[in-house]
Amino acid sequence: MKIPVTIYGVLPLLIIALATPIDNSVPKNNGKTRYSLAPKSDSSLIITGHHQSVYVHSDQSIQAAIHKASPGTEIVIESGTYAEQLTINKDGLTLTGRPGATIIPPATFTNNICTGLAGNITDAAGTATNIPLQAGICIHGSHIQLADFVAEHKKVISVGRAVNSVSISGLAVSDFTGINIAAVGTRNARINDNIVHDGGAYGILSAGSYNTVISGNKISHSTLGTIGICSDNFHGARVLDNEVSGYFVGLCIQTSNSEVANNHVHDNCIGAFVDPRTDGAKIKNNHIGPTNKICRSIPIPGDVIRGIVVDGATKTLVRENIVEGQHSNGSATGIQIVDDPCNLGGLACGLDNTTPAIASGNLVVGNVLRGNDVDLGLASVGRGGEAECEAVNALDLKSAYLIA
Ligand SMILES: *[C@@H]1O[C@H](CO)[C@@H](O)[C@H](O)[C@H]1NC(C)=O
Ligand SMILES: *[C@@H]1O[C@H](CO)[C@@H](O)[C@H](O)[C@H]1NC(C)=O
Repeated sequence: MKIPVTIYGVLPLLIIALATPIDNSVPKNNGKTRYSLAPKSDSSLIITGHHQSVYVHSDQSIQAAIHKASPGTEIVIESGTYAEQLTINKDGLTLTGRPGATIIPPATFTNNICTGLAGNITDAAGTATNIPLQAGICIHGSHIQLADFVAEHKKVISVGRAVNSVSISGLAVSDFTGINIAAVGTRNARINDNIVHDGGAYGILSAGSYNTVISGNKISHSTLGTIGICSDNFHGARVLDNEVSGYFVGLCIQTSNSEVANNHVHDNCIGAFVDPRTDGAKIKNNHIGPTNKICRSIPIPGDVIRGIVVDGATKTLVRENIVEGQHSNGSATGIQIVDDPCNLGGLACGLDNTTPAIASGNLVVGNVLRGNDVDLGLASVGRGGEAECEAVNALDLKSAYLIA
């Protein structure tokens, strides 16, 4: 998607290879009684359940518990505030927050693979500084190669080994400048039932991963963050039952064949955005509520306020969503299918800025559209099921436009 320069810096593409720091630390019991069981050292087994549970209290370090834990451990985090950044690269690790367990930025940061993943801090003039945006929780595999930052987040080029079956649930994560919870080079990661507040660039981002499940999270921003949830995986993503508000883009969909269902998305500028060349995404049974009023006052170039945008994507299914209250200057649109000339920046086109992305084979069916400036917008030369829109969607259709 294209993010306004005022929100996000766009920089030239340079490909560089970065290797993740590999955690070679040998799990050992340091004698603290709160880590109740001696960790096992075999990291090669398939994870079939929790090997053990350890408990972390607010006067202790979660990261220290992660270092000590053997694969498969559940780390239970008791209520309290933890000023920490976490990196997790052990298979089968489960972090379970008890109610009130809150992670906030520490006084000083330790760089990891998620540092700068969403670029650097931009100054008041919109120019990138040399200060990288920091992530709160970073779940990551090893030997990860990233492209340099172009827009939104660095693309994952390759992953040596994906970390398997890490789960994060029940935590509150707040106030990181970059990504509050990131999964990079992961397989079967689960990020469920967390409260994610004021993540500057992203609430939750999954990139270069396989089969991520992001469900039941409550994601909000007190002013306007950039992107609520995004999946840009190699394969598989399910984004289910989340509530997302206060972002320029609520849901960003960059994983082919991913499923985005039953989310409640409101008070954003764009509810859900399917990026160019994403194929076969399924957007079902979501409720996209009213536009955030702040979107009308920030200097967005052009009127980009939308409920759901299928932007140069193919074979998207947009089914049985409710999209309402999209308002701006008179052209905010409930559901829009549009081609992308790929000459305006943005991540998907930034890596291939020569070939326009033509929306085709998209099907928009059974949606409820009401109280939008414009309910449906079709502006694609592509072919496919998109023309079914008018007949089967609108219960309260005020207007639609068609440029084909
Ligand atoms: C971000 O800052 C780092 C230094 O921390 C610098 O090396 C890098 O070039 C900057 N990246 C961008 C995209 O400005
Ligand atoms: C609404 O119109 C004003 C005046 O043309 C413009 O500055 C602003 O960016 C527009 N807002 C949106 C969301 O398009």
